[in-house]
Amino acid sequence: MAQIFSRNANVYARVTTFGIVVLICGVGWATNEVFWSPYTTYVDVPLTQPVPFSHKHHVAEDGIDCRYCHTSVEKSRFAGMPTSETCMHCHSQIFTDVPLLAPVRESLATNAPLKWNRVHDLPDYVYFDHSIHVAKGIGCSTCHGRVDQMPITWRVNTLYMKWCLDCHRHPQKFVRPPDKVFAMTWQPSQDRQLEPTQLVRQYHIDTSGRLTNCSTCHR
Ligand code: HEC
Ligand code: HEC
Ligand code: HEC
Ligand code: HEC
Ligand code: HEC
Repeated sequence: MAQIFSRNANVYARVTTFGIVVLICGVGWATNEVFWSPYTTYVDVPLTQPVPFSHKHHVAEDGIDCRYCHTSVEKSRFAGMPTSETCMHCHSQIFTDVPLLAPVRESLATNAPLKWNRVHDLPDYVYFDHSIHVAKGIGCSTCHGRVDQMPITWRVNTLYMKWCLDCHRHPQKFVRPPDKVFAMTWQPSQDRQLEPTQLVRQYHIDTSGRLTNCSTCHR
């Protein structure tokens, strides 16, 4: 019977299979790299804003509390953004004529709110609520990093589902005492053994597994 496959066919087949496997792995690796890279996650990427607002100046140097500008963070889903009037509480007296603040003055004159570019923006199918996290002892800096050191705001976490779940599975790694929620420099101490379990109990945090149910965040 005539030979259908040449003598080298096996070798070709192996080389091709090997090539395909390498290609698939390569594509998988590249996708993974892109998925976790700043191009996709925007982690550590500062956004341009209509006014180059500096948390570093206003929070660290001038000592203004987060709630002065993000007034609803303890009470509602949304932290809330300051109005141009809020800026003018101070800037009608100081830095009144600096060109940097021209968009704020214009916004007041025209009654059109400033359009800040959003640094964090979850998809609409995800339910998030600031007030419960604040009430249960999760600090701003756990999710937003050292905002007080940022001359312009960027995000420090991916906001991917995995990130939310890592904490919802082990909240005891992150909870703080109630008076430390707004503290930018708070760090879990190395030797804390009992404290986190006590805090989890004190806050009545649900450890039944409901926090990782799909319907908790997708409702
Ligand atoms: C004087 C007003 C002011 C104070 C005080 C202030 N912020 Fe802000 N914050 C702003 C403004 C204006 C923006 C929008 C511009 C920007 O993103 O930088 C903003 C943006 C943010 C964002 C990004 C919002 C987004 O688009 O996703 C976070 C997070 C944030 N602030 C956290 C904090 C925290 C934490 C504190 C306290 C340590 C704080 N801010 C104090 C005015 C303020
Ligand atoms: C409670 C007072 C207060 C409020 C409210 C306030 N600022 Fe300021 N702002 C200051 C002070 C004080 C400085 C001088 C900062 C410095 O040099 O430490 C400043 C400086 C600035 C500057 C000059 C550049 C810089 O960062 O030094 C800009 C721009 C600015 N603020 C924007 C804003 C905007 C936008 C808002 C509203 C979202 C706002 N500020 C609200 C007190 C305030
Ligand atoms: C458990 C994590 C977490 C904590 C704790 C947290 N944030 Fe946020 N923050 C988020 C997420 C996620 C978003 C994006 C929400 C969205 O897109 O709907 C956000 C958005 C914001 C915004 C933009 C406006 C808004 O409400 O969407 C501001 C301002 C802000 N956070 C300030 C704060 C301040 C101030 C604190 C501390 C009191 C704080 N956050 C605590 C996760 C957190
Ligand atoms: C660092 C820890 C931490 C991170 C990160 C975090 N959470 Fe939470 N979350 C908590 C804690 C603690 C509670 C309070 C649970 C309780 O009351 O039993 C909570 C409660 C919630 C609740 C209310 C649950 C309910 O029905 O009682 C929702 C919704 C929620 N988180 C969504 C999210 C989403 C979406 C993300 C990611 C974008 C996120 N969380 C990230 C710690 C975290
Ligand atoms: C603690 C909050 C939380 C819980 C619990 C949760 N998700 Fe998500 N989910 C998110 C967030 C935040 C996103 C958007 C960010 C992203 O793409 O990862 C998301 C995105 C998704 C997406 C869009 C595709 C993707 O991954 O980008 C699907 C599908 C999804 N979730 C399914 C589920 C299912 C199924 C469960 C239950 C096993 C679940 N989620 C539980 C927070 C949560």
